[in-house]
Amino acid sequence: MFITFEGSDGSGKTTQIQLLEDYLRKNGQDVQLTREPGGTDIGERVRKVLLDMEHEKMHARTETLLFNAARAQLIEQEIRPALSEGKVVLCDRFADSTVAYQGYGREQDIEELRRLIDFATGGLNPDLTFYLDLPPEEGIRRKLADYQNRLDVQGLSFYRRVEAGYHEMIAQEPERWVIIDAGRSLDDVHQEVVRAVKTKLTAPAPSR
Ligand code: TYD
Repeated sequence: MFITFEGSDGSGKTTQIQLLEDYLRKNGQDVQLTREPGGTDIGERVRKVLLDMEHEKMHARTETLLFNAARAQLIEQEIRPALSEGKVVLCDRFADSTVAYQGYGREQDIEELRRLIDFATGGLNPDLTFYLDLPPEEGIRRKLADYQNRLDVQGLSFYRRVEAGYHEMIAQEPERWVIIDAGRSLDDVHQEVVRAVKTKLTAPAPSR
């Protein structure tokens, strides 16, 4: 089973994915946790290039290609092998982030992006995707207290487009997504994540 977490910056995805990893391990599941961009030696190097504050000249197409280069490596090196061993793979961001940030956020053509993503992923799609929903203003406020990278310094209108993009994607594919109100306590959010995963784990396996 392949589960991904999406959401605005500062929505608490990374904490929730770790809580879910602990929960699944305690319940005897074989789990592999990874993240985008990154997750492999090559991908972590690409991540550094993408997030470097000095790379202010980076063109939107370059950015898109780098995210997808890191993704292709992660899938072939980590995700596909883990899935074929029957593991539950948890990924902190995946291809939906490209549609949301490079598509809706940077206003690149969504259909072109989908073709590129399909090339990078070889058609691999998550079975379940959580969207940790938090108003962009609140996400920015939480992130400001934190370390900042090149992709954190966009204006509010960028994050509003990203948020609207996620909601559009969710409406197009509601069976894959679970929207979680990320403004609540860590434990409330975790319990809701666990409930959704349990339902999915006991449902008949999808064909891939
Ligand atoms: P990170 O510090 O991991 O942010 P977060 O904790 O919010 O996930 O930085 C990843 C940044 O990269 C984040 O701003 C979202 C962005 N991103 C894209 O723009 N496109 C993508 O395809 C991916 C995977 C991430």
